[in-house]
Amino acid sequence: MKKCIWIIFIHLYSVCCFSQIQVKELLCENRNNPVGLDIRLPQLSWQLVSSKRNCMQTAYEIRVAEEAADLVKAKNLLWKTGKVESDQSVHVSYSGKSLQSGKKYYWQIKVWDNKGNVSAWSQPAYWQMGFLNVADWKAQWIKAGYDEDTLLRPSPIFRKTFTAAKKIQSATLFITSHGLYEAFINGKRISDDYLTPGFTSFNKRLQYQLYDVTKYLQQGNNATGVALGNGWYRGNLAWEGKKDVYGNELSLIYQLRVTYTDGTSEDIISDNTWKSSTGAIRSSEIYHGETIDARLEKKGWNTTAYNDAGWSGVKAVSFNNSNLVATINEPVTKHEIFKPLRIFKTPAGEQVIDFGQNLVGFVEVRVKGNAGDKIQLQHAEVLDKAGNFYTANLRTARQLNTYILNGAGGEYFEPHFTFQGFRYIKVEGFPGEIKPENFTAVALYSDMKPTGTFTTSNAMLNQLQHNIQWGQKGNFVDIPTDCPQRDERLGWTGDAQVFSRTASYNMQVNNFFSKWMKDVAADQLPNGSVPFVVPNVLGVESTGSTGWADVATVIPWNMYVAYGDKRLLEEQYLSMKAWVSFMEQRSKNDLWNTGFHFGDWLFYRPDDDNDGRAAITDKYLIAQCFYAHSTQLLINAASVLDKKDDIKKYTELLQKIKAAFLKEYVTPNGRLVSGSQTAYVLALNFDMLPENLRATAAERLVTNIKDYSHHLTTGFLGTPYLCHVLTRFSYHDVAYTLLMQETYPSWLYPVKMGATTIWERWDGQKPDSTFQTIGMNSFNHYAYGAIGDWMYRVLAGIDTDKEATGYKKIIIKPYVDGKIVNTADNNNEWSKLPGLNSGIQHGKSLSSVAADLQTYYGKISSHWKIEDGKLSLAVEIPANTTAVIYLPTGKPEAIKESGASISNSQGSIIIKEKKPDYTSVAIGSGKYQFSIE
Ligand code: BGC
Repeated sequence: MKKCIWIIFIHLYSVCCFSQIQVKELLCENRNNPVGLDIRLPQLSWQLVSSKRNCMQTAYEIRVAEEAADLVKAKNLLWKTGKVESDQSVHVSYSGKSLQSGKKYYWQIKVWDNKGNVSAWSQPAYWQMGFLNVADWKAQWIKAGYDEDTLLRPSPIFRKTFTAAKKIQSATLFITSHGLYEAFINGKRISDDYLTPGFTSFNKRLQYQLYDVTKYLQQGNNATGVALGNGWYRGNLAWEGKKDVYGNELSLIYQLRVTYTDGTSEDIISDNTWKSSTGAIRSSEIYHGETIDARLEKKGWNTTAYNDAGWSGVKAVSFNNSNLVATINEPVTKHEIFKPLRIFKTPAGEQVIDFGQNLVGFVEVRVKGNAGDKIQLQHAEVLDKAGNFYTANLRTARQLNTYILNGAGGEYFEPHFTFQGFRYIKVEGFPGEIKPENFTAVALYSDMKPTGTFTTSNAMLNQLQHNIQWGQKGNFVDIPTDCPQRDERLGWTGDAQVFSRTASYNMQVNNFFSKWMKDVAADQLPNGSVPFVVPNVLGVESTGSTGWADVATVIPWNMYVAYGDKRLLEEQYLSMKAWVSFMEQRSKNDLWNTGFHFGDWLFYRPDDDNDGRAAITDKYLIAQCFYAHSTQLLINAASVLDKKDDIKKYTELLQKIKAAFLKEYVTPNGRLVSGSQTAYVLALNFDMLPENLRATAAERLVTNIKDYSHHLTTGFLGTPYLCHVLTRFSYHDVAYTLLMQETYPSWLYPVKMGATTIWERWDGQKPDSTFQTIGMNSFNHYAYGAIGDWMYRVLAGIDTDKEATGYKKIIIKPYVDGKIVNTADNNNEWSKLPGLNSGIQHGKSLSSVAADLQTYYGKISSHWKIEDGKLSLAVEIPANTTAVIYLPTGKPEAIKESGASISNSQGSIIIKEKKPDYTSVAIGSGKYQFSIE
């Protein structure tokens, strides 16, 4: 016996202390321990951790059981892979016994590496299934039983008491609603999630959530309560007071499974035994804010002690539950908090608080006052030229939260069913002196893992990166929105597609976009046309714009590139194909030149345009470019999915599309009918021109940029590719010059003006501090933040090999020669016009860039710096991946790694290519410190 214990001890000790390889970050469906899956074959991923270089997985073994204890004992296994010889460590599909509704499954993993090491079994992780069949829903939909005040539409609240007769083992709640919900058990809010059930094309796909609520229940009497708000379901959405887009009644479905320690279980369900009333939330609207009257709070309404004798019953409503689906994406939760930076009076006498950051969320208030005291908080993004509170750009969105005190003492307020886009609040009616401790701004956004960091030696570029990330945070609130503040906040497809690759660097957006792409497909018209906004609240006419509708092909492909999961391509394939077919059907002689298009939205267009300097690009020229682009992406997807007939068919179509483009829009010498930057950028980026015309086209692009005194003039569609095209055609210095430009139009102009997010327009606030047109002037619009992709991919040089996507094979190719071109020849006629005098500080170049990216395999780093004329590049490559590093010297002998010549690396660094301007080397995982003398 003693001997046995010793053996176990020695085994454990050696596993913990000597194991050269470990496994961590066990993910199921890209999340840690997700609950509520309706995917029958969930995908599993894990990371290898090794202190050794060149670590590759050679085999893995997975086991799955219903009980964690069974895993360890290796009994009652639902899936036991045995040792699988494979280097796959991401997106491995479950293929054990069929999974059952509501059940929790535990899993663990063990791996072997190429150095003969074997890991210990990992700590168990788990996932829990949601409902796999519509019939699993036993609950009824219920709505309030009283006559609603149809003007203010106060939030209905529902309650139910019940007895849990025996000792509780576990309790799981399945819940969703028409409208937003907030749920409580025994007075406690059951989760940290906000704005549930989120925003989807409700009539086709309504996500439900699953929560483990065991800790809120008790043996004996329990009470549950749920409040509902209008939200996206029936609140104001879009314009002209439009509301009730999905229905005009709020309702709830609630199913709580309580399992007792004796193995029995019971369901507490929404049905006609529930009660309904109204409480403190007197009105709530996403755009307009919320009114809470604490005097009308039904104190303790969601606890057992409360007497609901005065409440109404509920009415059961019948809905076909076939649209109910499990939640794919991360919930919206609270994130950063901001305390007042400045509390001040404006020249107009308004009492204003500045939180220092344009953010999306709301302000929590702590206050003492008398019953009936009414505090109003209005939200704005900017102050006007005179320093007054400015709300004209919000259009009809009121962004106003009103709190009426009950006088009970220290009171706390936060809204429930709304959010605001703001940096400033105007405070009215606050009892007593306003102190910083009374107000906290909280950022709300989808709880995606942060994955990327990007810093340089230049403070303005760092601020630009900050602004891009905050543009993403504020507009990734369950769906990707255009802007988060005015009466819009919609899932504009064009904005999302242009920003999607950048988004994938900053945060883990795989599930966020997978969920939204299902709505894109669901709202796609039968003829294949794709809406301007998704969920489509604008109607069937609002579809089919080039560059917007291409979201159907662009995002699935970008996500495949970033995360390497071909399941999304499989799922979206028909949608991708339908969009290309739509363009094909609308084309004549392979030319798609019909229909409405937004074009290169918000391109450079001076106010005083007498000289015709607006950088207009023919919309049909753009349409033809995106027609080709989408067709190319469809071919790419068909290749990944091995659809041979489609590859052939669409490759032929693509040739015809390009031929038609040449015939219609290009002169024999390669001049485009639109001479704009966007025209050349799209033609070059999508390979619309034959090889022999490309170099001249790139030259023309550069001439155009010089003509605008080294400024960009591109709008939403040209901007994402502008710098990529310049880098590709060896004008990296011009790309870099555009990036460093500080006068309008440029990325750094808003930074110079004090922006903390990306603006909708290049000149939302003009150099004289006046604003652009109130009709469309958001200060939190991520589209132009699409430059982030170039910053990560080119300045820091982190990319994935397209042949092994998701960073299984990594490319590190930083462009370290960030030189600003000589802009002294800017003395041309354009430069005399407002804004266009070049704002570049000459001689300024980057001396360092450091970017990190968390992938499913682990962390990638590329940190370079130039000191005393010497370049150093620190690289980190995660286990189970390989990388090719491009070092900017034609002399391999000048390259050292950790102080030693790379030729002494004993095979750990292999020189692949030697070119006049670079040397590429192949490496395996680990940390490397390169330097070039
Ligand atoms: C939105 C944009 C959108 C556009 C369509 C605007 O109102 O804010 O970002 O893409 O309409 O062109």
